Amino acid sequence: MGKTSKDKRDIYYRRAKEEGWRARSAFKLLQIDNECHILDGVNKAVDLCAAPGSWSQVLSRRLNENYKKELEAGNGIPPKIVAVDLQAMAPLEGVIQIQGDITNINTAKQIIAQFDNEQADLVVCDGAPDVTGLHDMDIYIQGSLLMAALNITTHILREGGTFVAKIFRAKDVDLLYAKLKIFFPYVYCTKPRSSRNSSIEAFVVCKDYSPPNGYTPHMLNPLLTHEAYNSSELEGINRVIVPFVVCGDLSQPDSDTCYPLDFEGKEYTYHDPVQTPIAPPYEEALALLENRDTDFRRSDVSVVVDNMNSMTISDFKKQAKQKRKGMNECETKPKDSKEADCEDASGNKEIIDDCDDCKYDRP
Ligand SMILES: C[S@@+](CC[C@H](N)C(=O)[O-])C[C@H]1O[C@@H](n2cnc3c(N)ncnc32)[C@H](O)[C@@H]1O
Repeated sequence: MGKTSKDKRDIYYRRAKEEGWRARSAFKLLQIDNECHILDGVNKAVDLCAAPGSWSQVLSRRLNENYKKELEAGNGIPPKIVAVDLQAMAPLEGVIQIQGDITNINTAKQIIAQFDNEQADLVVCDGAPDVTGLHDMDIYIQGSLLMAALNITTHILREGGTFVAKIFRAKDVDLLYAKLKIFFPYVYCTKPRSSRNSSIEAFVVCKDYSPPNGYTPHMLNPLLTHEAYNSSELEGINRVIVPFVVCGDLSQPDSDTCYPLDFEGKEYTYHDPVQTPIAPPYEEALALLENRDTDFRRSDVSVVVDNMNSMTISDFKKQAKQKRKGMNECETKPKDSKEADCEDASGNKEIIDDCDDCKYDRP
């Protein structure tokens, strides 16, 4: 099928080319608008994560139509559209472009600077990170991108304005909805027909921007600063302080201290664990160890070194190496001569504990 295969498979891909949209995503925004009327009366808009630019095209066409209508009514203001993306984007007439990462504070500041003393009626974000294939990770990154977009939005959206953003409908999506609901009384999750059913992608349409009373937009979000944020810089409703309660007083033992075994005058007796793990994650490793010739879990596995007090690390390594060599030699001797040969001058039997292949018979 060659070059036509995708055209044949995907009607939206084909239509996008026929109608002059840079990507099939254009239909997602158009379909959301058909249902939710997000572009009605909009004059200033921001397109976050905009490349290659089909949403910016939709915004440009529709905002210019709005402008024409306003002109006819005698009170038109030229529309303003700002598009941002990590990737460079081919120019689009009437669209201001910024190349940068929306999770970076400097990009966020550049976007906000474009709206000096002005506010946007609409912010859209079709941002999608490069998928890692690790689903949980991809979902988490998508959520973070959405929160970065929301953070920028709180700086530039006028009260009553609309925010539209891609969201992954996955585990914990309710937490994202809950955060959005703090700023928008109306939060809808929409799924345009042009968004594949096989994809967990959907779009939140958040209407009537109403930040909490006294809320001041800030950039102390760690995602945007890459630094731990200092909550003491925040005041009023912007500062959430969760009470910290210590349970237990100073008469209780401290969990970071090592206490003697006869602590509180009691003689220490060992007790087996009340309940040993029924399927410990290390079970397989233990089974493998059972089959090894050298079982390092036995208490007699040790390294005996001479003159420990005056020894440097390199001396220790040297001595251990020599002892290992001695062990290997004893391994090649007939079985009944092993023990005698592997005794050191003081008569100690030695086993080098990092010698996997040592076949020395332990007592
Ligand atoms: C699905 S595409 C957007 C398509 C666009 N809405 C259109 O209609 O042409 C997702 C875009 O998000 C951008 N993106 C992902 N993470 C970003 C970030 N942190 N900052 C800026 N752009 C980002 C990618 O570079 C990519 O171009």
